[in-house]
Amino acid sequence: MPLDLVLMGPPGAGKGTQAARLAGERGLAHIATGDMLRAAVAEGSELGRQAEQIMAAGGLVPDDLIIAMIRERLGRGDAGRGSLLDGFPRTEGQAVALEAMLGSQGRAIAAVLVFDVQLATLIERLSGRRVCRAAGHVYHLVHSPPRSDGVCDLDGSELYQRDDDRPDVIETRYRKQWQDAAAPVLEHYRRAGLVHELDAARPAGEVADEADRLLDRLVGAA
Ligand code: AP5
Repeated sequence: MPLDLVLMGPPGAGKGTQAARLAGERGLAHIATGDMLRAAVAEGSELGRQAEQIMAAGGLVPDDLIIAMIRERLGRGDAGRGSLLDGFPRTEGQAVALEAMLGSQGRAIAAVLVFDVQLATLIERLSGRRVCRAAGHVYHLVHSPPRSDGVCDLDGSELYQRDDDRPDVIETRYRKQWQDAAAPVLEHYRRAGLVHELDAARPAGEVADEADRLLDRLVGAA
């Protein structure tokens, strides 16, 4: 049975950092809507054109565009063993659509990992985040710096700062996307008994250990 997990949390909580590692180690597809949208913007596709300004302002891209993107992505072969859904669903409409998509394949969400971090820590993390141009590898100027300034250790491409990692946009993302739009989604998953909270304010290695223990339990119980 495929293992499908949802990762939720405010911007900069460390979802992408943990998902990238877990996907490689567990053979799950890392499906990150933010990464997919940034790739669409870089390609200059119609989706990217529609999403670019909304993302830069810290808003949510419309549900119909996001749901179509995920439907196509979940249909690809590498999602057959399971998925780590990073940044999706973020609205009630997206949550309903996800359940229908997985249900049509005889699948269901196994757990929702919620990354808990306070706003001041998020601002510190996102202000220091740098991302590689070629593949989106993530660094932090203090917590996980590259070996050479401004250059990705893994592929040598340039590191840049995301447009939406400015303090004013971080606060908009936190309030509109996390405190407002995501709240009913989280409540829905709580009622379904799917939520596992992680204290994600700790160093990345400690968060990784806790996530590993949780996944081991889920796999053992499957
Ligand atoms: P997206 O890219 O998904 O942004 P986000 O959810 O705000 O999450 P981030 O990528 O900012 O943070 P993260 O939790 O992955 O943290 P990371 O691991 O990088 O979405 C961008 C935009 O796309 C949205 O604003 C929206 O416009 C649109 N969008 C996306 N999905 C959508 C959807 N479903 N519907 C509608 N619109 C959508 O870590 C952050 C930094 O901290 C890094 O520098 C990292 O090195 C460091 N770090 C990580 N863990 C730790 C730790 N434990 N200790 C210290 N530092 C750490």
